[in-house]
Amino acid sequence: MVNITINGNAIQVPSGTTVLRAAEQAGITIPTLCDHPDLHPFGGCRLCVVEVQGARLPMASCTLPVNEGMVVTTESPALTKSRRTILELLMSNYYDSGYKDGQKETTQFMRWVKHYGISVKKAQAPAPRYPVNSDPNPVIWVDMNKCILCTRCVRACAEIQGRFVWSQGGRGFNTRIVAGAETTMLEARCETCGACVAFCPTGALDNRLSMGAGKPSTVVTTTCAYCGVGCQIDLNVKDNHIIRVTSNPDASVNGMAMCVKGRYGYDYVHHPERLSKPQVRRYLLKGEPKPKASAGANPGENSDPLWDWVETDWDTALRITAEKIAQARDQHGADSVGVLTSAKCTNEVNYLMNKFTRQVVGTNNIDHCARL
Ligand code: SF4
Ligand code: SF4
Ligand code: FES
Repeated sequence: MVNITINGNAIQVPSGTTVLRAAEQAGITIPTLCDHPDLHPFGGCRLCVVEVQGARLPMASCTLPVNEGMVVTTESPALTKSRRTILELLMSNYYDSGYKDGQKETTQFMRWVKHYGISVKKAQAPAPRYPVNSDPNPVIWVDMNKCILCTRCVRACAEIQGRFVWSQGGRGFNTRIVAGAETTMLEARCETCGACVAFCPTGALDNRLSMGAGKPSTVVTTTCAYCGVGCQIDLNVKDNHIIRVTSNPDASVNGMAMCVKGRYGYDYVHHPERLSKPQVRRYLLKGEPKPKASAGANPGENSDPLWDWVETDWDTALRITAEKIAQARDQHGADSVGVLTSAKCTNEVNYLMNKFTRQVVGTNNIDHCARL
């Protein structure tokens, strides 16, 4: 353990901890942009500079390891001036085209810009340098006029998703973030997982499906229903509609990572054809015999109105299902019944279906879709 002092507070942290993480543990906030706890430190933006007793110049706390007896100051008039200058320099390369219909920016970058009292109108670049919406990716919006070269997208894609889509191209003032050898994201083997969007602190990378949707009125943490991994996801809800899905670094299973289905496959929730109530064939509801299919009809097709699907309540649907399974078992034997479960179900549900199939129905005919 190493003893250090930050803003007059004596703190003990394991050796190898950075000053930034030590300050966080002590509840002290240091402004950051290129840093993220899930990514390797980069030390590029310099917003996290702190004063260290005995050091000639302010130092970047996100890459500075603690030393025994270190005395650190995180706030001073000189540091405020430094951070303002850094933000103004970043703003001089930043251009917001206003395509979000005046929606107030809520990005990490804008929060610090406002915190240090910088006027966006005065400080931002006079004109865009790149085309807005420069990549045809169907769900990710790219506007490199808002990029501050923090490389969080580069590191997220490489370190979390392992796809290495993004890198830095050009030199000096022309340095820019490029996909592959300056091609499109998909041509550079992007899987559209959205990790780069989740880590981008400026909105240079954004969710195309959520553009202009505004702020959510509530955020609901839930479990993704697409597969058995059970990623935790945050549904951003407005007017009873999901407007975007975000990830949370504290999620125990997946942290900030998600796949394309969990992050972008949510429009089915509000689809008008989505089944949200149980349905049964009309003849079952009426207790009538199964109508005969007309000659030449395809399997499953029948013009008889008794063949129509009708909505019912869960108790009725489950009663009919149970009666039909019991009838098939009693008339044709247990092996006439087969059960298909789903990788979307939890382990507990699949365990219960296994018990139900083998012990209640009495057959080993059970399978599920995880081999897809
Ligand atoms: S969406 Fe995922 S795979 Fe595609 S560039 Fe971003 S992090 Fe990489
Ligand atoms: S696109 Fe976003 S995450 Fe990537 S370097 Fe630019 S500002 Fe950083
Ligand atoms: S957050 Fe430390 S240099 Fe960017």
